[in-house]
Amino acid sequence: MKVSVAQRAGVCFGVKRALDIVETAAREKHSVTTLGPLIHNPQVVHKLEEIGVRAAKSLDEISDGAVVMPSHGVTRETLRIAESRGLEIIDATCPFVANVHRRVEALAADGYRVVVVGDPNHSEVKAIVSAAGPGAVVVSSVDDADAIDWTDARVGIVSQTTQTPERFGEVVGFISARAREVNACNTICYATRDRQNAARDLAPTVDAIFVVGGRNSANTNRLAEICESCGAPTYHIETADEIDAEWVKGMSHVGLTAGASTPQWIIDEVKRCLELL
Ligand code: F3S
Repeated sequence: MKVSVAQRAGVCFGVKRALDIVETAAREKHSVTTLGPLIHNPQVVHKLEEIGVRAAKSLDEISDGAVVMPSHGVTRETLRIAESRGLEIIDATCPFVANVHRRVEALAADGYRVVVVGDPNHSEVKAIVSAAGPGAVVVSSVDDADAIDWTDARVGIVSQTTQTPERFGEVVGFISARAREVNACNTICYATRDRQNAARDLAPTVDAIFVVGGRNSANTNRLAEICESCGAPTYHIETADEIDAEWVKGMSHVGLTAGASTPQWIIDEVKRCLELL
């Protein structure tokens, strides 16, 4: 099987930075716990456990030592509680996510009603909303936006860093047609954009495409959606073990892309397995 890997795939700047921060902390400190998974990749979280870094579900599970705030950020309330309990805070929030926090703070201070285009259940979005303060709303689609009265509103719009520009643009266009004033900041990060563009380029040139990454990874799910929308049979897998030879029967050329939290060793393993089919 010929396997073509997307021009941009796998671990991004923010994830690499978070992993470096935690690995350094694990060497230097006696107890290091991440608040939730450091990144949305179960295999990487498992590797961290092997070097003594535990992932706690909530602050209630952490009584002492250092607590690492994950790359997708945490709410202001969570930070306050961690500080009040005397925990040592290590901030691994991606600088692009921190930038969105600063943007929404500034928009709210200027009197804009803050809108976050994204998934309301995603921890990155919850953290952005908390930085924006009371009155901020999450809109995941034009349908969501249609349920809100925008008449006379001054609206400041940002995006979850892993959204597609198409969805962001649709929501911005819809609100712009109704609100008094719109101040839209495209806060989709460059790593997301580059991986999405590379997947868009590759998908139409192959018989099928494999998207590798955590099922809980927002940017991996967006990559899978993009590949599907290009018409390529798309398989979202976390590891090589999930590959079913039947999926590629009669095919000679498949594509491979991976989310921003998928380490290179998993991509290499999937590539090797596919080449043997
Ligand atoms: Fe940061 Fe973008 Fe990666 S927001 S964690 S560089 S996907």
